[in-house]
Amino acid sequence: MAGTQHPTAPTPTKIDLGAALASCTGHWKPRIVGALNGQEVKVAKLLGEFVWHRHDDTDELFLVMHGRLRIELHERTIVLDPGQAVIVPRGVEHRPIADEEVHVLLFETAGTINTGDAGGPLTVDKPERFTTA
Ligand code: NI
Repeated sequence: MAGTQHPTAPTPTKIDLGAALASCTGHWKPRIVGALNGQEVKVAKLLGEFVWHRHDDTDELFLVMHGRLRIELHERTIVLDPGQAVIVPRGVEHRPIADEEVHVLLFETAGTINTGDAGGPLTVDKPERFTTA
């Protein structure tokens, strides 16, 4: 017998991360694929060097799905291959570098700006939302 469900609970929908990534145009332009508990799940294609920055109010998770991502910290560099992840704690300066195209999933507080305190031309104020048709 099926359990009971809250009458206003939304229906879960499958999130196709590959399709979301395929819909990404350009690099360093995150796309929101879902939200939960005040956090957002995003995907992005990365290529080249990003800017040094930090996020004072949010921890930021990077999960690599394709390619090899280097995340420079001041004291060392973390190298991530597909299936590997890192959580950069709030306040820690970091610079992602993708020598070849990398696909990532990001998980961080809703509204987090990609360039953090640095700003500049790579800033995406309002990421597009990906919805499965
Ligand atoms: Ni960041």
